[in-house]
Amino acid sequence: METVVSGIRPTGYLHLGNYFGAVRSFVKMQDAYNCLFFIADWHSLTTHPRPEQIRQSARNILTEYLACGIDPEKATIYIQSDVPEVLELYLYFNMNIYLGELERVTTFKEKVRKQPDNVNAGLLTYPTLMAADILLHRAQKVPVGKDQEPNMEMARRCARRFNNIYGVDFFTEPESYHFSEKAVKVPGLDGSGKMGKSEGNAIYLKDDEATIRKKVMKAVTDAGPTVPDSPKPEPIQNLFDMMQIVSTPDTWNHFNDLYNTCNIRYGDMKKQLAQDINIFCAPIRERILELQADTQTLDRIARQGAERARESARQTISEVRRIIGFRS
Ligand code: TRP
Repeated sequence: METVVSGIRPTGYLHLGNYFGAVRSFVKMQDAYNCLFFIADWHSLTTHPRPEQIRQSARNILTEYLACGIDPEKATIYIQSDVPEVLELYLYFNMNIYLGELERVTTFKEKVRKQPDNVNAGLLTYPTLMAADILLHRAQKVPVGKDQEPNMEMARRCARRFNNIYGVDFFTEPESYHFSEKAVKVPGLDGSGKMGKSEGNAIYLKDDEATIRKKVMKAVTDAGPTVPDSPKPEPIQNLFDMMQIVSTPDTWNHFNDLYNTCNIRYGDMKKQLAQDINIFCAPIRERILELQADTQTLDRIARQGAERARESARQTISEVRRIIGFRS
């Protein structure tokens, strides 16, 4: 069975965009592949050297993954810093990759622009740590967004370089697994772009009914169409897109007809949308709350995930040591 690895940095809570963009696909993938889903807490130090409550943030994502239906009996879910074996592979890759290659990675150049006062070595070697995350389990497939392509290119290079230097055929080059056809782009609530791109445009899986309603009612709209069948401006299209995701086709058609006949009242539409978002989120939210209260179960799942990941990691590290010439 092919192995899949995916990581997420614990920068906040999961929102509907994360759910429809990735997490929903993870739930399907766990039946078809040997999946390892981990929380990249070490990676977050590249941008947040003094993270607040890093352990808690990691556990929040773990909780939300479980609440969304990732099953710890089918997939391995773990926190990166619970599996220190990755650091050894990170070290070897850093010996094999050249400074110039890392400096040319476009995501690095972006980060340099974003945080010119903290261009740390970890930022530069972010791609080799990510390569180590993936190749630690000798994964073939990595579900990532298009923005991760430069990092994936580097992961393939690490695999190739290692094989070339030591004259082996040990690592396979991991491929990006884009579920973009199946992934639904969830728009944000502030009129443009996708959910999560900017502060305050996201609905989180943990949001309660009142919060959802407040956020949806504040979503950007306009004065409404005056000419029948006019095209929809982006903020309006976004509301309709959101409705397509969470509401029934009848509901969507109803408001679409009202729009096309210039009879739409956005207040009514938003009320309906908030209600349907809440219907969708409520069961996930309940499981989040249940799990949050059950710290023993969470501890056990985190421990079990780490153990399984370490087992897989140790095998790789032991072979890597043997290949390079260290005793394993
Ligand atoms: N760089 C990824 C991101 O932003 C997170 C990540 C770290 C990752 N290690 C990984 C993703 C390994 C897939 C595989 O969002």
